[in-house]
Amino acid sequence: MNIIRIKDTSNKLFYIGGVVRDEILHKESFDIDLTYVGNAIEYAKSLPDVEIIKINEPFGTVRVKIDGKEIDIASTRAEIYERPGHLPTITEIGCDLKKDVIRRDFTINALAKNFNSGEIIDYTGGLDDIKNKTIRVLHDKSFIEDPTRIIRALKFAVRFDFELDEHTKELRDNYLKNINYDMSFKRVKKELIETFSLNSQKAYNEFIDKNIYKLVTEKTVTKPNINIENIINKYKKLINPSNIWLIYVGTLEDLSKLELTKEEKSIITDYINIKNLKFNSDFEIYKTFKNVKPETVLLYGILNDLVPVINYFENLQDIKVEITGDDLLKLGLKPSSKYRECFDEILMEKCLNPTLTKSDELNIAKKYIK
Ligand code: CTP
Repeated sequence: MNIIRIKDTSNKLFYIGGVVRDEILHKESFDIDLTYVGNAIEYAKSLPDVEIIKINEPFGTVRVKIDGKEIDIASTRAEIYERPGHLPTITEIGCDLKKDVIRRDFTINALAKNFNSGEIIDYTGGLDDIKNKTIRVLHDKSFIEDPTRIIRALKFAVRFDFELDEHTKELRDNYLKNINYDMSFKRVKKELIETFSLNSQKAYNEFIDKNIYKLVTEKTVTKPNINIENIINKYKKLINPSNIWLIYVGTLEDLSKLELTKEEKSIITDYINIKNLKFNSDFEIYKTFKNVKPETVLLYGILNDLVPVINYFENLQDIKVEITGDDLLKLGLKPSSKYRECFDEILMEKCLNPTLTKSDELNIAKKYIK
């Protein structure tokens, strides 16, 4: 666990959630969550050598700077889900630790560790579940109140190689038979990104086979007969790492419930536009794939036909016409749509024979002009 120097004398400060789980698992934590049993804002103000960066009064959280590092301290809080699928409402700030812990998602995320003594507080059996590699919800309404937890369960199962306990599986399956789509898809998207950025075929198999994908689309999806993880690994250098998740989730084709960025949207709509194309020549493959992102090309390969995709990435994608408009002008061709036709003529030849030189290209251009 990262060492933070807080001169705590209250004995009410705890590491909480993922950071405690990760320490027990000897894994590095992405962030450190601290919780104070009481009002964290008042507590932070009372600490020496601590700079207050930001206060969020309604949530009872405070961001502080300690030794140059920014850390959030939360007040213990109790919550209720007034509107299942959306953010909960806080009902109490400064509640006891147990109430704070039992509002959480899984027993493995419900452990607290006393900041001073290092004592682990385990109200829900999280230590045993970590030992037994088990993901278990804390109560039967957990997925109804927050369906994003179904994706979180998949994420943790794959990240740590854990299994969902049988009752948790049953609750998940029941929920997925009767989904309430009035949920925060912003949170769904966040969890999908975190899960599929793990680049795991195992995660994808579970996602489809267990119907978890139904959280994203009401359409029925069949699993492509291709190992997406292997394909992504093979062409990793061509993919923007922040789009890896979209190659998996994009196989659903209908992502209308998710708020996509402009780039993400274009990857999917470009795929929809080319999905029914069949190619008769390398030139057609080149012209089609050159105009879209590699992620779109991979979706075509995964869902339609991998053969032209491999051909494109291995043989065609680097083909370029070397001569320029200036060269065509020197050959006496006035700027017009003929330029594009002429370049296409050269490209067609280069797709057949990529070793053609610039002077070969000039000869093709001359023939075209004649
Ligand atoms: N939590 C929850 N329900 C959610 C999201 C989060 O109960 N839908 C709780 C969990 O106790 C979790 C904590 O809030 O441990 C912090 O959330 P987050 O940072 O998303 O999870 P971590 O467990 O820290 O996971 P990661 O390692 O992926 O950051």
